[in-house]
Amino acid sequence: PYANTTTAVNYTWAAPTAGWLSPEYKWFFEYPLPIPAVKQPRFVYTNNQTGAVVDYYEIEVRKLTKQIYPNLPPTQMIGYDGLQPGPTFMMRKGREAVVRFVNQSPIDISTHVHGQYNRAPFDGWAADYAYPGQYKDYHYPNAQNARTIWYHDHTEFATGLNVYLGLEGFYILTDDEEQALNLPSGKYDIPMSISAKQYNNDGTLVYDTTSNYGIPGDVIQVNGQPWPYMAVEPRKYRLRFLNGAVSRTFTLSLHEGFDGQQLDFDVIGSDCGLFAQPVKANSVALSMGERYEIIVDFADFKGQNITMRNARGVVGSLDFAGTDQVMRFIVGNSESGNSGNDPVPSALRTMPLTPEANITKKFQFARIGEEWVVNGVGWADIEHRILTRPTLGADEIWELHNGNGTGVHPVHIHLVDFQILSRSGGRGKILPYEAAGLKDVVWLAPNETVRVVARYAPWPGVYMFHCHNLVHEDHDMLVAFNVTNLAKWGYDKTTLFIDP
Ligand code: C2O
Ligand code: CU
Repeated sequence: PYANTTTAVNYTWAAPTAGWLSPEYKWFFEYPLPIPAVKQPRFVYTNNQTGAVVDYYEIEVRKLTKQIYPNLPPTQMIGYDGLQPGPTFMMRKGREAVVRFVNQSPIDISTHVHGQYNRAPFDGWAADYAYPGQYKDYHYPNAQNARTIWYHDHTEFATGLNVYLGLEGFYILTDDEEQALNLPSGKYDIPMSISAKQYNNDGTLVYDTTSNYGIPGDVIQVNGQPWPYMAVEPRKYRLRFLNGAVSRTFTLSLHEGFDGQQLDFDVIGSDCGLFAQPVKANSVALSMGERYEIIVDFADFKGQNITMRNARGVVGSLDFAGTDQVMRFIVGNSESGNSGNDPVPSALRTMPLTPEANITKKFQFARIGEEWVVNGVGWADIEHRILTRPTLGADEIWELHNGNGTGVHPVHIHLVDFQILSRSGGRGKILPYEAAGLKDVVWLAPNETVRVVARYAPWPGVYMFHCHNLVHEDHDMLVAFNVTNLAKWGYDKTTLFIDP
């Protein structure tokens, strides 16, 4: 009954060329970067209560089969509209959306748009499933500024597996301010979900959650394709990086040739949208769930290759030397557009003022015994998992501490945009592009303490916060906060959502 309105990605494999473990890796950069299809609404209506214009979408969660390695049997996965990554939602601020997620798969699902300002429980509460054969409708206000966000599964105790099986996609929001900027757009604006997986020789995915650091994976993929290439013009591109991996951090850089000189680029935005000004860098570090957007100029590299590489760094408690190749840009000789050489705008947006908070709350992320927990509490502890109750509109500093050496805990707080205030211990300093924008995930390295400030608005209700190493989240580093509306009700009440 639910028509699939998405055009499938044109995605085929050539005949096998080499064993995937052969030392020559002959087929690195042999397959093009897939660009996820854009999801189209089924119809548009006007809400007769609010007057809002609402786009209505339907998307099906279903099984898919995908050839990952040319010489291995295809892999069974689960994806939105049967695609991995799922189709991209393109939204505009002020225009609302209702999305029906229809579960045509054999697993339970709960869908979260990571970075959407949304009223609980439409936020994708982990215990609010659609069972196989059911659907759920979510209403997205799209009330925030332009930003690169993403949607993914959030089912309790199964988020890691479900995302690993393919349940992730982009949700890109734009606004008038961004559209006025003349940033590279259309085919020069590329969403890139970078993840890491591991496959058995029969093509099945390896999902072994017994290690301390989760699922690091042995092959890095971009938009689901191991080591792709992309033909580009000698001009500026906007690249939107998302770390969509279950357990792997990335530090990305661009190199002349295979591993030559590192390119400089402009970082223009992060999780919660554009910066005030671009920040120069030659690498960006992303823990799981984080986004950074860059503008890179290929104009000086006509006829050359540029390779994206990842500095391995810390995986769990192990620190790996060296870099991996991620993908290749093959720079052509001519440009078809005409604004590819326009300078990067020096002023990107007016940032909201950083709140002055006088409330500080402390949260310790640590492994205790067999489980990862927050202040000693895990998701299964239903009685205690609401750790704190900010008053609607309150400004609060949260001091996040990584309590032991079992790896990076990328801390994601639902609902709010936060500013990183300080970092001590561990890596010890805030990177310039971390400080330049508002965030919804922060890299919390072993033994670090990071202070973040946010305004707990605009909605009351119960929201989650958790580690975005999804294996940690599932076992059991996922807790909640209840934004309460004292002014309205005069007492501490769960205003919209009753936690069981
Ligand atoms: Cu990206 Cu609570 O999730
Ligand atoms: Cu963690």
